[in-house]
Amino acid sequence: MRKTTAILAAACMGSALAAPSNNKRYLRDPAQTVTGNELAYEIPAPVSSGGKAWSDAHARAKGLVGQMSVEEKVGIVTGQPGVCAGQTKAVERLGIPSLCLQDGPAGVRPADGHTQFPAGVTTAATWDRELIYNRSRTMGQEFYDLGVNVALTPVTGGPIGANPVMGRNFEGWWADPYGTGIASYLSVKGIQDAGVVATAKHFLGYEQETSRNIYLVPNPDSPGSLSNQLPVSSNIDDRTTHEVYMWGFAEAVRAGVGSVMCAYNRVNGTHACHNSVIQNGHLKGELNFQGNIMSDWGGTWDSQAAALGGLDLEMPGLNFGGALGTFYDTSLEALVNNGTVSQERLEDMAVRVLTPYFALGQAETALPSVNVIPWNFPTANLTAANPYRLVQKPSTRTLIKQIAEDGTVLLKNNGALPLNAPARISIIGSKAGPGMRGDRNCGATGRLCEGPSLGGGSGWAQALNYIDPLMSIRQRALDDSSAVDWVLNDTDLTAAQYSAVQADVALVFVSAWATEEADRDPSLTYTYRSAVGRNGVYDGEALIQAVAASNPNTIVVAYMPGATILDAWIDHPNITAVVSPLQPGEQAGPALVSVLYGDVSPSGKLPFTIAKNIGDYPPDTLTNTTDINPQNDFTEGVNFDYRWFDVNNITPRYEFGYGLSYSNFTYNNLAKDATFHADVEAIQTTNEKFKGQNQGESLYDTLLTVSVDVKNVGDVVACEVAQLYVQYPDGVDQPPKQLRGFDKAKRLGHGETKTLSFPIRRKDVAMWNVVEQIWEVPQGQFTFHVGSSSRQLPLTTTHSF
Ligand SMILES: *[C@@H]1O[C@H](CO)[C@@H](O)[C@H](O)[C@H]1NC(C)=O
Ligand SMILES: *[C@@H]1O[C@H](CO)[C@@H](O)[C@H](O)[C@H]1NC(C)=O
Ligand SMILES: *[C@@H]1O[C@H](CO)[C@@H](O)[C@H](O)[C@H]1NC(C)=O
Ligand SMILES: *[C@@H]1O[C@H](CO)[C@@H](O)[C@H](O)[C@H]1NC(C)=O
Ligand SMILES: *[C@@H]1O[C@H](CO)[C@@H](O)[C@H](O)[C@H]1NC(C)=O
Ligand SMILES: *[C@@H]1O[C@H](CO)[C@@H](O)[C@H](O)[C@H]1NC(C)=O
Ligand SMILES: *[C@@H]1O[C@H](CO)[C@@H](O)[C@H](O)[C@H]1NC(C)=O
Ligand SMILES: *[C@@H]1O[C@H](CO)[C@@H](O)[C@H](O)[C@H]1NC(C)=O
Repeated sequence: MRKTTAILAAACMGSALAAPSNNKRYLRDPAQTVTGNELAYEIPAPVSSGGKAWSDAHARAKGLVGQMSVEEKVGIVTGQPGVCAGQTKAVERLGIPSLCLQDGPAGVRPADGHTQFPAGVTTAATWDRELIYNRSRTMGQEFYDLGVNVALTPVTGGPIGANPVMGRNFEGWWADPYGTGIASYLSVKGIQDAGVVATAKHFLGYEQETSRNIYLVPNPDSPGSLSNQLPVSSNIDDRTTHEVYMWGFAEAVRAGVGSVMCAYNRVNGTHACHNSVIQNGHLKGELNFQGNIMSDWGGTWDSQAAALGGLDLEMPGLNFGGALGTFYDTSLEALVNNGTVSQERLEDMAVRVLTPYFALGQAETALPSVNVIPWNFPTANLTAANPYRLVQKPSTRTLIKQIAEDGTVLLKNNGALPLNAPARISIIGSKAGPGMRGDRNCGATGRLCEGPSLGGGSGWAQALNYIDPLMSIRQRALDDSSAVDWVLNDTDLTAAQYSAVQADVALVFVSAWATEEADRDPSLTYTYRSAVGRNGVYDGEALIQAVAASNPNTIVVAYMPGATILDAWIDHPNITAVVSPLQPGEQAGPALVSVLYGDVSPSGKLPFTIAKNIGDYPPDTLTNTTDINPQNDFTEGVNFDYRWFDVNNITPRYEFGYGLSYSNFTYNNLAKDATFHADVEAIQTTNEKFKGQNQGESLYDTLLTVSVDVKNVGDVVACEVAQLYVQYPDGVDQPPKQLRGFDKAKRLGHGETKTLSFPIRRKDVAMWNVVEQIWEVPQGQFTFHVGSSSRQLPLTTTHSF
């Protein structure tokens, strides 16, 4: 049992229950004609140069690698036994240590003494660039202080949220390439400014957990036995690949990301980690990526196909007792020794692993000793490997509270909020409370608790000190001498109603759980199969209905990891307000109190669309089949999330970019300025070409700046997010509108005005020309729409480029 739990705990990977300890399990049944390797060697692997930023680090890495034996080089690119989720092999005679790689997107995992940050999706809901950067910079410091060289974060567009039931959407940002691109750039930079190598993941087209690997087929007794089951193939057309799925990775490369993790799924039939078209062609070629491509844990299937297809670092290799198969190690040595894989290719793999290590100065400023919870706990000496080291700073609590406040989305308010000294408050639902077993007992993936503050899997992070809403509301209620009552048993509807019926306000707390290794319940409601609920069901819908039936001032606090269907009760006359903190992290309680009591006016806006019905989302974004060779055709193309609703004229419940405030704003003086600004942000430059390109010009130069005045005409100090959407010229095949800018006016007082601006880069008005394989800005008049959400866009301006 212990070993299983620990393996599940250890990385962004599937269960290793049935895995034998050699790579035979991956060999195809000879009767199977589909190999998953059809395109593996189509495009040769580009050799790194270090690019614009890393020529010194690259030369240094190349010099050292040049002195290494084949065995030493192979050690650098093969996962090694160790306490971290991933380790490389040290080459002590050359002063190169073993590098420690550790999860994950909301904080170090598994480890102690660090912060459970708000989820990516919550951070996106702030629409605040400074908070996105500060979160990653602070998180990066915690990785550094725990001795981690390579952080397995951020998610930069895999998933992007094209499939609303995808279990891992909470780890990412906006269901939109532009928003995700902004967050990718800032979060990579934040982590790396702390001296830790960031990992952009998962490349490419990773939009479902179901059938992502051989263990996650819907029916384990399916006709496909483990020996011939293939992971789902994401079949994506070239234009969508460029305009949606590569976009965030391009921004990660521009920010100088050191590692990119390839995905579990196949792309057009070929395993992502072997796919030379996406790895050698798109990533190392077109995006000019100079770092290393590392496999997701168990994402490699064949040594030769991976090495020639562009994979540099094979993880976890020999770690976890080799339970996920070891593909490099001696197999790679043999392939190099007989010339199947060139010496040059092996050298480049090792150089690509070591270049970011030197570029970020890790060789000079030796990191503190590694301090994580070892994957093989408790056989490892936990006391020795994990002496308690506090790395959370008091200022971090202020930061994550602010992110949780500013990422809270007020969905409905009939005047019930902010609370005004209610005499009797009733708090209903387990999700208001501290959890039945604290945080340390939730397992290293959070799955034993299904708490509301963060999703599960490798994207989970243990809280240092989870401050729950019940605790914070009780504390705050003392100021007003409010009587506070509560019922935390989700199935005791009698007690819930007894408490609610007597109160002036009933706050009912529900949460939709999401985790790696499973897609969400297909209903996307608050009723779903649960590992911790009674009879295996958590029935938040019944709880809401019971409370709303008994109190005319029912406020729903609805935690959500992504799109959730609210329509069964959203118009209930007794439900006077609905507020969603999304997944707020360990300062959940204090942040919620600030918003409920109006210390802070809510300013979060949805980074995804909430539909009225599940059927309103694009159909078939999830392939759920027992087929041994599952295919997911991305037929919606670029039209996912809000674009789908626009193209098909479907009215959502709450549109992308929606969120209420306690104040009111007016938008005036839309202006444009066509002053050219060359791209100065790129730390590394991509090779993305565009039509009519002159020497020195970049796809990321700013061609136009649109601005607008936002005035707070309400009574309270508040923040407002303004959004810009581009409409391409008539006749151009593009969605009706696409997000291409946002800016946030912060803490505006009554009557105060702020000018917000939206720089429009060449790429923001370009499209991918599939015939000429180049970006192109279409001729004609563009329209820029500006307003408070994707469907409240009162102002427009036009421009031709
Ligand atoms: C971000 O961090 C910087 C540096 O610590 C700080 O000055 C700034 O106020 C922070 N911004 C926000 C929005 O928290
Ligand atoms: C996948 O196939 C589509 C359709 O043929 C094509 O447009 C796209 O470029 C292919 N992508 C890759 C990575 O092979
Ligand atoms: C090279 O070695 C590999 C691994 O041992 C083997 O599978 C392959 O057939 C060999 N190729 C040649 C050309 O000898
Ligand atoms: C574990 O490590 C601690 C601290 O180094 C040491 O005191 C203890 O004896 C070790 N326990 C075992 C079982 O090796
Ligand atoms: C919760 O309420 C249900 C329904 O009344 C009851 O059966 C169950 O025992 C309660 N659970 C606890 C832990 O009290
Ligand atoms: C996949 O199909 C299985 C079997 O029909 C079903 O139980 C499961 O809920 C489906 N999963 C999703 C995410 O729709
Ligand atoms: C609203 O609450 C009242 C109790 O105050 C209840 O009598 C009524 O039936 C509720 N309305 C609905 C539609 O449930
Ligand atoms: C101003 O804001 C309040 C609170 O959100 C809202 O109820 C009201 O409708 C708004 N008024 C206008 C004119 O938009």
